[in-house]
Amino acid sequence: EKGGYASFMLKEIAEQPKAVADTLLGRIDAEGRLSLDEVRISPSELREADKVVIVACGTAFHAGLIAKYAIEHWTRIPCEVELASEFRYRDPILDPRTLVIAISQSGETMDTLMALRHAREQGAKVLAICNTNGSTIPRESDAVLYTHAGPEVAVASTKAFLTQLVACYLVALYLGQSRGTKWGDEVRAVVRDLSRIAGAVEEVLTTMEPVRELARSLKDKKTVLFLGRHVGYPVALEGALKLKELAYMHAEGFAAGELKHGPIALIEEDLPVVVVVPSPRGRSVLHDKIVSNIQEIRARGARTIVIAEEGDEAVAPYADHLIRVPVTPTLLQPLVATVPLQVFACELATARGNEVDQPRNLAKSVTVE
Ligand code: F6R
Repeated sequence: EKGGYASFMLKEIAEQPKAVADTLLGRIDAEGRLSLDEVRISPSELREADKVVIVACGTAFHAGLIAKYAIEHWTRIPCEVELASEFRYRDPILDPRTLVIAISQSGETMDTLMALRHAREQGAKVLAICNTNGSTIPRESDAVLYTHAGPEVAVASTKAFLTQLVACYLVALYLGQSRGTKWGDEVRAVVRDLSRIAGAVEEVLTTMEPVRELARSLKDKKTVLFLGRHVGYPVALEGALKLKELAYMHAEGFAAGELKHGPIALIEEDLPVVVVVPSPRGRSVLHDKIVSNIQEIRARGARTIVIAEEGDEAVAPYADHLIRVPVTPTLLQPLVATVPLQVFACELATARGNEVDQPRNLAKSVTVE
């Protein structure tokens, strides 16, 4: 049932282009109109939302962090993202015009379920983004958008994450469109870009051999750091989480702009630091800043592992290892930039003799608080 792969995780990484394509299929038209799977709120209630709050755990939380950039940029609706386990304990401000988005692969995560119950008790509307038909979280929500990743067996989430991102982009487009924002052309451009993204993920997957080789060479390291900016920051957090849970190594993700506020003190000779570089087009200011971050850490001896867009030559002189990803619009870059980090963690864990599908101390769905 692993279809010839050594692990479910490898199989699920390989299934990502299909998972992404299936999640988009038939969901959205050229105008950005989205069809949700189950809707128990009126379109006007959804349209009138004046605040979005995303609740989720772990990898799904990282999808939420990325979604915030897209939702605020495309819809201008303020969006907060919160760990589901923290949410209800801080007396959050919620009312019927708050749209809460609960993201969960399993649909059974207790922390996320308790957060959504709390939100509904306060009168907020809840939209679930979920991979498991008929599970508790979608059943208890006001609207549901299913990700079509297919069953995810490996404990570490891979294809579900990419499809959660796609679902979040779809919701963002829908909210933008239904509020009649003036960006018809931009919606069409994003829909077109999304329709190409499965191909870009496929392309990344064909270039992973050097990443595997690099991962094996780092198997005796104690720590790996991950840096990113903008949507690359949650990607860095996700890269670090994958490495912790699979390789049992110390790994941390930082916002690259925070380096000088503390973490740069950690940099020492030969410390592997993975840097997710934003596109040099569009947000070129951020790109230039991250290039100087790479220079700074390299000058202090770090071994720089740089994930950068095809054709980005400015980073090349400072990269000890350069991992290329296809050109995508900035907001969609996480869909391609995460893939090498999954492969990296999986290979490193395997090189350390770990069981990648069943990491120690972890369960696929966490049904206790
Ligand atoms: C990490 C991982 C976990 C889950 C988290 C939420 O690889 O799998 O961090 O993402 O436990 O699970 P769901 O999405 O089922 O609510």
